[in-house]
Formats: sequence, structure tokens, C-alpha cells
Amino acid sequence: MKKLGITLSSFIIDEQRKLGNKASGQFTGLLNDITIACKSIANLVNQGDLAGVLGATKSENAMGDVQKKMDLIANDLFIDALENNGHCAGMASEELDEILTLPEGKPRGKYLVTFDPLDGSSNMDINMDVGAIFSVLRAPADKENPTAEDFAQPGTEQVAAGYCLYGPSSMMVLTTGNGVNGFTLCSSIGEFILTHPHMEIPSDTSEYAINSSNQRFWEAPVQKYIEDCNQGEEGPLGKRYNMRWVAAMVGEIHRILCRGGVFLYPIDERNREVGGKLRLLYEGNPMAMIVEQAGGAANTGYGRIMEVQPNGDPHQRVPVIMGSKNEVEKILSYHAAD
Ligand code: AHG
Repeated sequence: MKKLGITLSSFIIDEQRKLGNKASGQFTGLLNDITIACKSIANLVNQGDLAGVLGATKSENAMGDVQKKMDLIANDLFIDALENNGHCAGMASEELDEILTLPEGKPRGKYLVTFDPLDGSSNMDINMDVGAIFSVLRAPADKENPTAEDFAQPGTEQVAAGYCLYGPSSMMVLTTGNGVNGFTLCSSIGEFILTHPHMEIPSDTSEYAINSSNQRFWEAPVQKYIEDCNQGEEGPLGKRYNMRWVAAMVGEIHRILCRGGVFLYPIDERNREVGGKLRLLYEGNPMAMIVEQAGGAANTGYGRIMEVQPNGDPHQRVPVIMGSKNEVEKILSYHAAD
């Protein structure tokens, strides 16, 4: 008989046991809640127009992005899954202006969760990769309800981080600070099964991902690095580079975990004061933890992303340079020389 394989829930229980945690089961329960949200989203994303979930709404999020129908549905599914079971004390979502505390009467848990419920949502209507990104932090023990300041913890304080990629197959990729593991959703039994144990990013690469249409706005070191990449074998980097752009960070980071590469969303002239395009709490920190745990590097160009001290604004942005370690270091040498 074909074996079932290791399910995500049994993997988490086993990992907690090995860590010798006197686990109350809350962390396992919390990851289970997140998994349920992701499975529900995967189901709708898979059905696409058949489920009536394509298209835009008339609303905008805190960053001024027009919200897609599926942005709001995915956001509600995360909230639904997290607010009822007593594992979570508060949430911050890319789709909500303010942090969310639990309604009166709901049991409070030990954890805070930040999430981008549908990363890359402009891909939704064209049937391309989208994903969810999440990060788990500890909630303050001495408060009934957390405040925005409680979410202002540097990425080094994350207890877990992960993403769910809704691509040709749906995959959950997770770290609890002990390496990175990938699980593929088996639609016939509705479980994520361990298919990619101990994911590791190759240290060297000749593949980069950046939105080149912004080139004239990039900071000088990134302009110079990409210019050198594009000179190929004749240039100072001495090799031919390839370029990819999925337009969903989940897709880019997943490719990098599978075969190496670097992903850049740098400071540009239009967003110099706010620090970049991507959000520190929903995108930068969780992806930085995953990338570092898989042996890669994640930097702003001026320091480790996970060491950025959040300013208390849950929608704070951060410049991002992450992926294969040696290539990130090469990019940082352009910043050092600038
Ligand atoms: P969103 O979550 O609002 O859909 O943003 C997607 C992010 C990120 O995932 C992706 O890498 C980047 O924005 C794409 O940016 P461009 O619009 O420059 O392609």
C-alpha cells in the first residue's frame, strides 16, 4: 500500500516534540489555523472565475493599492481561521489599515500573526502565481489586547514564518527557526504532505529578478550591478545572467529556494523616504527568515532585513535584496563601494 507521507500537522507536532518544548499545543494549533486559511484560499484560487473571485473592488488598502476581490476574501479567511481558537492575540494584515484585536469574548492566545493574505494579487486575473505570506511573533503576556507597538519587533524575534504558493500545485513552505521545509497540497485528501525537506538555496547563481521598468529610479549601486550583469561574459562579473519576474514575491522566493537566484526590490527615487515598496512585517521579515534559514542572505543594501527596528507603523516598507548568499554579498559590495 502506498504510504500517506508526513503531513504538515504531524511534522509540526514532531518538530515541537524534538525541541523539547513543554508545548501547550498553542503553536501547533496556530499553524493549523493558518493552514486551514491557506487551504480555503487555495480552493478558491484554483476555481478562479468559476468561484466568481476574479476582478477588482472599489476599495484601496492602507498603501493605496486597489484591492482585488480575492484580496478581501483571503483576508477574511485568515481572520476567520485565527480569531476563534485561542491561539492568537492579534493580527496585522496588509489589507487592513490598523492592527486587529480579537472581538470581546473570544479567547486570547500567546501569538501575534502578520500576513499578506494574497501576495501578487495582480496575477489573480491572469491565472498566474499568487501566494500568502505570514509571520508569527510572541504577544505581550501582560495585556488583554496588543497595540501596534507590540508588532514592532525586529525580524530576529519571529517564532515562525512561511508562505503558501498557489501555483500549478499549492505549496506551504515553513520555518520555525530550524531549517525550511516544503509541503505540497494533496487535493484528494486535503492535506499538505512533506515533499521538499531541508530546502537549501544554492550559494551561487547567475539569475536575478527585478522590475527593470523602474531602472531609472533605482539607487546607484543597484543600477551598476544590473548594468554589469547585463554585460554577460564580457563584463566585470564574467558570466551570462538570466532574468525572471513573476510579479509575486512568493513566486520569486520559491524559485530561489528551488534553484537559487537573487530578488531585488530596492530603494528608488520615488520611495526613498518610505524605504522601498515591500512591507517589512508582511513581506520583508518573513521572507528574510525563510531565506536565511535556507542558507541564503536577506539585506536592505545597508544591513540585515531582520535587524531593521520597526517604527511602529504596521505598513512600514523596506528595500529588499535577498537570495543566494554569494550573489547578495556581491551586490552589497556595490553598496560598500558607492
Ligand atoms: P501585492 O501584494 O500588492 O500584490 O504586491 C506584490 C508585490 C510583490 O509580491 C511583488 O514582487 C511586487 O509587488 C511586484 O511589483 P511590480 O508591481 O513592480 O511588478
